[in-house]
Amino acid sequence: MLEVRELNVFRGATHVIKNVSFNVEEGQIAALIGANGAGKSTTLLTLSGLLRPRSGTAVFRPDAQEVDLTSAPSEKIVRAGLIHCPEGRQIFHSMTVRENLEMGAYAQLDQKLVSKTTAEVLELFPILAERSGGMAGSLSGGEQMMLALGRALLAQPKLLLLDEPSLGLAPLVIERIFDVIAELRRRGVTILLIEQNAAMALDLADTAFVMETGSIVLSGSGADLALNDKVRQSYLGGAA
Ligand SMILES: Nc1ncnc2c1ncn2[C@@H]1O[C@H](COP(=O)(O)OP(=O)(O)O)[C@@H](O)[C@H]1O
Ligand SMILES: [Mg+2]
Repeated sequence: MLEVRELNVFRGATHVIKNVSFNVEEGQIAALIGANGAGKSTTLLTLSGLLRPRSGTAVFRPDAQEVDLTSAPSEKIVRAGLIHCPEGRQIFHSMTVRENLEMGAYAQLDQKLVSKTTAEVLELFPILAERSGGMAGSLSGGEQMMLALGRALLAQPKLLLLDEPSLGLAPLVIERIFDVIAELRRRGVTILLIEQNAAMALDLADTAFVMETGSIVLSGSGADLALNDKVRQSYLGGAA
């Protein structure tokens, strides 16, 4: 569903993404793990058209379409079903929970589909129904993450890019978020998950890639990488 080849991205004069190639298969969760500053967020920003690469290709293939992510406008990328749930949630704090969810559906003309998806999101996250008229800024960090995910679902994702959904959240809340990510895969959403929490990401992922200073240095199934010595030493706390 996503094919990235020899991608190079600069931020200012800095060569941040270096010859990165990987695939994400339909129906899978792919995890991109790596330390702070490795280039994970830059990769996602490039795939959603917010940054342009210096060279390389990135093609998104939902259904029979083919979208060139290195040249298509962000709006077209969103309409094709590639939805980016950004680092730090980026919800609108002084809007209500309901209004934030509606923002996710702004490009949807099919009101029946919007109603149906809203009902599904509120079933997935009952707290959002309870707090629907409250300001998003008054939600806890975990609730804000649920709102960010709910908003992304209202955009009808075929490929969902998740940038560090666990960041700053308590372990129980992280488990809930990861349960929902697994549920989304069951419902047919393909997911590219970026995480510093390598243990949980590898446990969940079908395929995983390790990024170090802008390059992919290892790839394999989540289970294989979780057993890899280098991954264990560098990303899983060196547990034997
Ligand atoms: N707005 C920016 N301008 C210039 N350099 C940036 C900017 N944002 C990030 N960088 C640099 O790009 C590199 C990768 O950052 P990022 O993609 O955010 O990494 P990660 O998400 O893996 O923590 C870092 O060296 C960072 O300093
Ligand atoms: Mg980041």
